[in-house]
Formats: sequence, structure tokens, C-alpha cells
Amino acid sequence: MARLLARDDNIMPAITLNIGNTRLAAERGDITRERVAAIVNAANVGLRGGGGVDGAIHHAGGPSITAECRKIGRCPTGKAVITGGGKLRAQWVIHAVGPIYSGLPSDAAELGSAYRESLLRASEVGARSIAFPSISTGAYGYPIKQAAPIALDTVTEFAQANPAAFELIRFVLFSDADYSVYFAEFTRRGARRE
Ligand code: APR
Repeated sequence: MARLLARDDNIMPAITLNIGNTRLAAERGDITRERVAAIVNAANVGLRGGGGVDGAIHHAGGPSITAECRKIGRCPTGKAVITGGGKLRAQWVIHAVGPIYSGLPSDAAELGSAYRESLLRASEVGARSIAFPSISTGAYGYPIKQAAPIALDTVTEFAQANPAAFELIRFVLFSDADYSVYFAEFTRRGARRE
């Protein structure tokens, strides 16, 4: 009898791409379980927590993350702030605020900025591995087929300009459909399966 697959049974292979000394990777999974130095949260301007990946990170990380966010107060769209990781395996959580999709050209600039600012916050504390969710493509409505190349272009440019900063930059996609968009985008750029 066929076994039903639980959500955590990851049957899809990860895919990787080397940019100098930095390994870019994409996999399907739950970012709250990542063993990396820093995970990125798709937050809101008020850092108030919410649903989606934000709710999952605050829930798994415990009250210290919420308390630190309250102390910081706000984070403008396209920027990122950092807190500790609380009970998470990751030492740091970077709270990045992506744009609410409007269809205007400013969306792409703000989305790229949210990824770049996250990498800056992580490198400032010496984190050498980082995991991103797909910022803005849930509640904020950014079409993932448009968002994925912006995410990849931005981290690639950062890794080329800062070759010693990161060993690993990983994208963690929560659904098979989202992962397949990243898989296609990685493949288009010459990536190979792990
Ligand atoms: N791990 C990885 N990705 C996840 C997880 C998880 N545990 N949970 C959800 N996601 C995915 C969603 O499937 C989506 O593809 O994260 C992506 C981003 O979706 P949202 O969390 O809705 O983030 P965003 O679109 O940026 O909207 C931000 O939503 O939760 C609120 O407070 C948040 O107001 C803010 C807004």
C-alpha cells in the first residue's frame, strides 16, 4: 500500500549553484527547522508578527523574538532588522519587510532591497549561512515567477561583490509549486541537482 507522505518527507532534491565560494541552494521545507546561522522572516513594517512564515517563526522561536521586535519598533519596507533566534536552531532572525505587490516598478526595487538588506544584517554579525523564505509572495501577493529572479539576481550580485561573506545562501520554499519555480530558475542559470 502506498505510504502517505507527511509534509516533512522531503522527496524533492535540493538544487545548488556556486557563485565563487558561496553556495546558493534551494529546497522545499519549513524554514523554522533550518540549521543555519540566520533565518530571514517575511515581516511587516510594525514588526507585529502575523500569519504565514512570520507567525511560524514567532511561534517556534518563542517570546524573546516578539519582545526584541517590540523594542525595535518599526522597519520600513525594503529594509531589515535583526534579533536573536530564541528557541530556534538558528542563532539570528532577520526580519525583512518586502513590498505589498502593487504592479508598480517600485515593487522590484523594494523586493531586491529586502534581500540585500537581509544579507547586510547577517554579514554585520558574522553569520556565514542564511536561509530565506520567498519574501512577499504569500499575503503580500507578489507573483513568485516575478519574485524568484529578483531574489536570485540580488543574492548573486551580493555574493559576487562580497565573496568572503557567505558559505551558504539557501532558499526554503514551503510548497512544491513554489519550489518548482525556484528549481526552474536555478536550472536556467546552470545549476545542478545535489
Ligand atoms: N517556511 C518557509 N516558508 C513559509 C513558511 C515556513 N514555515 N510558512 C509560510 N511560508 C511561505 C509562504 O508559503 C509564502 O510562499 O512564505 C512565503 C511568504 O508568505 P507570507 O508569510 O505570507 O509573507 P509575505 O507575503 O511577505 O507577507 C507578509 O504576512 O504574515 C504576515 O506579518 C506578515 O504582514 C506580513 C505579511
